[in-house]
Amino acid sequence: MKKHVNFLILLLFLGVQVMAQGVKKNTSIRSGELWPDTDGKHINAHGGGVLFHKGKYYWFGEHKTAGRGGNSTLFGVGAYVSDDLYNWKNAGIVLKVEEDASSEIVKGCVIERPKVVYNQKTGKFVMWFHLELKGKGYEAARTGLAVSDSPTGPYTYVKSFRPNAGQWPMNLDPELKHRTVGMEQLKWWTDEWRREVEKGLFIRRDLEQGQMSRDMTVFVDDDGKAYHIHSSEENLTLHIAELTDDYMDFTGKWSVLAPAGHNEAPAIGKRNGKYFMITSGCTGWEPNEARSFVAESIWGPWKPLGNPAVGEGADRTFESQSTYILPVQGKKDAFIFMADRWRPRNPIDGRYVWLPLEFEGDKPVLKWQDEWSLDVFNTKYKKKSAPAAKGKASAK
Ligand code: DGJ
Repeated sequence: MKKHVNFLILLLFLGVQVMAQGVKKNTSIRSGELWPDTDGKHINAHGGGVLFHKGKYYWFGEHKTAGRGGNSTLFGVGAYVSDDLYNWKNAGIVLKVEEDASSEIVKGCVIERPKVVYNQKTGKFVMWFHLELKGKGYEAARTGLAVSDSPTGPYTYVKSFRPNAGQWPMNLDPELKHRTVGMEQLKWWTDEWRREVEKGLFIRRDLEQGQMSRDMTVFVDDDGKAYHIHSSEENLTLHIAELTDDYMDFTGKWSVLAPAGHNEAPAIGKRNGKYFMITSGCTGWEPNEARSFVAESIWGPWKPLGNPAVGEGADRTFESQSTYILPVQGKKDAFIFMADRWRPRNPIDGRYVWLPLEFEGDKPVLKWQDEWSLDVFNTKYKKKSAPAAKGKASAK
């Protein structure tokens, strides 16, 4: 009997200890694992991006749900707040889908890859995202806009559209606008077709209604100018487009990057006055080999530098796909590569792959790390290259 009482007392003691400790604090980044927020729940902010504002980081992302169908947007865009990049407090759904069936962001539409930037001039937080209209698969290919007075919302939906209607890209010969070779004359994926894509085949097709805009990101340069970078032309070519001074529209100035190169998931950073970009190929939710580019001007030319990932798992970007390059505040040349390990059959269980970026010359380099902390930016990342970690990158 006494034994039982002692055991019960021990259990009670342990229970009180656990309660007193609350949710354990995160002290490192462990890619591919569950990432508990400050309530102990796995973070739900996929295809995300991070804004730094007044000493805090804000992580915005797709709020997914469980089971098949969990990729369509039933709630909206979620946000989390952190001051150390490890521990994130859920700020809830900051852009809510609407009940009204005539709304472009009606419940059941698809909102992907939301990115928020702060406009110094207007004091507004501007959110851009990829929008697919409800029940139309991925054919709408629009960019959507919402705005708020506070980083954690609520964000008010403004509009969606296909960008740059009537505008020809700066880096293609304007004469090509009048070329008469049409879609119907060409067989897809032949060399001739590819050459015509490079000469604006799809841009001409969509010139009047605006260019397609799917996977996207937004980048604010040192001079305050912002750019919307998106997969266009049936995901064949990336478009880089300038935003207006209030970040609420497109100026009509834009250029193409890697025509017919089939790039998705653009993520961009700036280092030593040069722009670098990491993208993926196009294989739906399946991982593939990432690509990297560097340029002296945002308008290009963009030099391809190949797969930034090295070591075991590099051919599938450690089972992930890029979403954002996050500059770590207060540390020079410290960038985190943010990526998603998608779980299309149970999207809410999607994982995050966050890795510190190294550089070899201008080339960004990604090495798998089971677990790491921001201290890496103080020490080994100052050296030219770090020893490769053992690749434990398999999807779970
Ligand atoms: C890959 C994209 O990068 C994702 O954002 C999403 O659009 C899926 N394709 C849909 O298949």
